[in-house]
Amino acid sequence: MWNSFLLPPFTPLYLVFFFLLHHLICMVSVKSSSPYTPIDQILLNCGSSGNSTALDNRTWIGDANLKFLPLEQSLNNHPSLTRIAARQSPTAALVPFATARISLSTFTYDFPVTAGQKFIRLYFFPASYSDFDRSKALFSVKAGPFTLLSNFNASLTADADGDPGDTIFREYCVNIEEDQRLNITFTPSPTVSDSYAFINGLEILSMPPNLYYTPEDDQRFSFVGQSNSYSIKNSTALETVYRINVGGRSISPTEDTGMFRAWSQDDKYLKEYRVLFLPFNDTINLRFTKLVPAYVAPEYVYRTARTLGSDSDINLSYNLTWEFPVDSGFYYFIRLHFCEFQPEILQASNRRFRIFIANQTAEDSADVIHWSGGNGVPVYKDYAVSIFTKERDKKVNLYIAIGAEPQRWKTNYQDAIMNGIEIFKVSDPSNCNLAGPNPDPILVTPPTIELPRQSTNSKNSRRTTIFVAAGGVTGLIVASIFGFLIFRTGKKDKNSGSADFGKTKRSKASSLPEELCRHFSLQEMKTATHNFHEELIIGEGGFGNVYKGLVDEGTETLAIKRLNPESKQGLHEFLTEIEMLSQLRHVHLVSLIGYCDDDGEMILVYDYMTNGTLRHHLYDTNNAPLDWKQRLEICIGAACGLNYLHTGMEKPIIHRDVKTTNILLDSKWVAKVSDFGLSKEGRDNTAINTVVKGTWGYLDPEYARRQQLTEKSDVYSFGVVLLEVLCARKVVNIKLQEEQWNLANWARKCIENGSMGEIIDPYLKGKMAPVCFKVYLEVAESCVREQGIQRPTMKDVMERLVFALQLQTEADDRMEKTNPDGKHTYTEVLSFHVAGDARFNNDLSGHVMESDSGTELTWTHDTGLSYQSLGSDSVN
Ligand SMILES: *[C@@H]1O[C@H](CO)[C@@H](O)[C@H](O)[C@H]1NC(C)=O
Ligand SMILES: *[C@@H]1O[C@H](CO)[C@@H](O)[C@H](O)[C@H]1NC(C)=O
Ligand SMILES: *[C@@H]1O[C@H](CO)[C@@H](O)[C@H](O)[C@H]1NC(C)=O
Ligand SMILES: *[C@@H]1O[C@H](CO)[C@@H](O)[C@H](O)[C@H]1NC(C)=O
Ligand SMILES: *[C@@H]1O[C@H](CO)[C@@H](O)[C@H](O)[C@H]1NC(C)=O
Repeated sequence: MWNSFLLPPFTPLYLVFFFLLHHLICMVSVKSSSPYTPIDQILLNCGSSGNSTALDNRTWIGDANLKFLPLEQSLNNHPSLTRIAARQSPTAALVPFATARISLSTFTYDFPVTAGQKFIRLYFFPASYSDFDRSKALFSVKAGPFTLLSNFNASLTADADGDPGDTIFREYCVNIEEDQRLNITFTPSPTVSDSYAFINGLEILSMPPNLYYTPEDDQRFSFVGQSNSYSIKNSTALETVYRINVGGRSISPTEDTGMFRAWSQDDKYLKEYRVLFLPFNDTINLRFTKLVPAYVAPEYVYRTARTLGSDSDINLSYNLTWEFPVDSGFYYFIRLHFCEFQPEILQASNRRFRIFIANQTAEDSADVIHWSGGNGVPVYKDYAVSIFTKERDKKVNLYIAIGAEPQRWKTNYQDAIMNGIEIFKVSDPSNCNLAGPNPDPILVTPPTIELPRQSTNSKNSRRTTIFVAAGGVTGLIVASIFGFLIFRTGKKDKNSGSADFGKTKRSKASSLPEELCRHFSLQEMKTATHNFHEELIIGEGGFGNVYKGLVDEGTETLAIKRLNPESKQGLHEFLTEIEMLSQLRHVHLVSLIGYCDDDGEMILVYDYMTNGTLRHHLYDTNNAPLDWKQRLEICIGAACGLNYLHTGMEKPIIHRDVKTTNILLDSKWVAKVSDFGLSKEGRDNTAINTVVKGTWGYLDPEYARRQQLTEKSDVYSFGVVLLEVLCARKVVNIKLQEEQWNLANWARKCIENGSMGEIIDPYLKGKMAPVCFKVYLEVAESCVREQGIQRPTMKDVMERLVFALQLQTEADDRMEKTNPDGKHTYTEVLSFHVAGDARFNNDLSGHVMESDSGTELTWTHDTGLSYQSLGSDSVN
């Protein structure tokens, strides 16, 4: 829930932010051994049998194992069932989300655990499961006496979180007494017929004693706005609602201190961007104490922060405020993390500040050094607050703010600091309830579209300048190009002739250069697609439908992508795509012809690609199979397009969703990369820290783990494309045996074992020259390596594929000469395999590390700084 994060369009402020963030990413390093090892660690992959390994390398046990098989409490013959999700989430991992346990009646998991405090984590993927419709998933979840979820409508919750493809994650803390067992019960709603309960994954993890629970009465903490104090008793349960690394990047569960907690970025919760002060200190040796041991929070949290800045006049004029939507009617437990690491803050009273929680003063004179005992010593402070409003079933904002000290106390710097925030909901002592109301169905208001400004597009303005300056022949050509464009626009005006068109609003979008991107009226779009007729749909996706359309009196066929106005994400991607595509022109990229933003519509218009997607020429199709050379040429074209994205502009652009359905083929079978909705502009070969987006099976595992995006993530996805082209099978096929589900993993195994010949497309057998096949497989294998630094650049890939094609052509020619009439059949290359830890070793691979020092590579990979520089092209 709290880690789905929608990036607003780029603004200069954001660029500043990314710049700073990038520095943070580079500087902060991770400790490899965890400060805490849980006693109990149960990872249950529900609806599955056998063990499976998730992206983070943890092993999940299938709940069909006898030990964990849930107990049925059913008298009416509704045993629970295991099901595979009918749809795959583009963003979620296979484990544990691909399978679920589902039941129309109550079922209970009974966990034998040690006594003590535990995390309970629930993982849901609210898809439909064969005969179970996602809208009917309505149920309650109890853990012992605690109601965790009540009448929980999983699909509604996921939709309200913004992205229907998203998964739901919930984390709770409970205390287990001696001789108690931990029972978790799922009960379908008794009031709605056909309702069912389901669960995809369950995690039980011990936590250090009294990490969040209060050990003794004398360690009670302050109840904001009340004179009495507060404590978290063993008899209560907690639900984590927010866990934030202030001023730094998000921290993935594997980077936590052994408890696998996820820490999110704070920028989406900031009430407003005033100024950006993001200090960090990557060199300081943090001194943990008995009171604040190293497992409390990852070092990242204490090495990054937000402050107000150095101008005390400005600081006194505002509070730095975060707003967190929470359920009304509960007490909340808030933990604030601090660490003074700036060298000038050494003593108590150097920096005193004020803390406000829920608009009330929590600290009048917060003094981190006074609390912690020194610079570089982490400390946290706990608070409780009650949030009760009249509207019990609505979310309300819980504000947390820091502000400068107005010199009522002595302070050297009128500034404030915050490093981390954790917010927990406390179970209602009267009924042991933690469940909030279901979200309201989303009201759909058509978003107002602000198109990105193009004024920063230096390429365009430079081009214009050259046009103006150049005379003679060039000038003439330029003039005729403009003439053509104006002619097109003029023709459009004349054609639409009706009074209707004249009234079409030319909205704010006019900041887009018309010569780069044509504006269509909604009426034109409706005419072109027969009012968005179903018959004309040529593609569907989470964002909306793609139609085939005829414009300009049927003279031009276009592909018309109408974004679903309900998806907030769509709006952002719409803007990104226009912004990116209007700047990009390349024979191997789909060209954006224009757009339509009338009446809140978000429509993108592209060249129509007669031959559809590459995917539809590979498998599950009536199309004739592509021959080997054609496949090579298509792959080369796509590689060329991606290489242009990575290197053709001032800043590299990372596509983020490379797959065979995003490689389109025009009437001459020229490959064109499409769909830039997820693209991100990188900065100078450095990693970008983002929420993981992409498509199952194509998603770079390293990116998924570290959430740091580089061009090498595209290289990984492209490697999967190469394997898909070679094997003509789905990249994720859960109908196969489990070890074969994921094509990239399976192919890697086959390459190791030398059994690749067995899984290639039977149609290709005997048609590939062994020398060519070998080069191709080497490229594919090198692309899907675990670590980005071991993968080649897109340029290397492109050149190797060209080389492979050349080898094939030469072999074909030789074959032709020796046997002019007969069929050309090559002997099978069944046994090719990449020897040991072979690197991408060839004369073109100068950029790729040729190091044998595996340990050193691992080490550098684990530290942000070295990873950056090694990952970049500058290393030879
Ligand atoms: C599955 O994993 C568990 C715990 O890691 C282990 O005890 C068990 O033997 C494994 N089962 C199989 C079939 O590999
Ligand atoms: C709560 O339970 C834990 C272990 O279950 C125990 O160590 C702790 O002392 C208990 N706290 C109180 C206040 O009884
Ligand atoms: C858990 O369930 C088992 C079996 O139904 C039952 O014997 C036990 O009392 C339950 N424990 C708790 C704490 O509810
Ligand atoms: C900061 O917030 C508190 C509590 O909401 C408020 O009383 C105070 O006036 C604010 N200070 C400034 C400078 O806005
Ligand atoms: C609480 O503070 C926030 C942020 O300063 C402000 O927007 C909100 O109106 C305040 N609420 C109340 C009830 O004063």
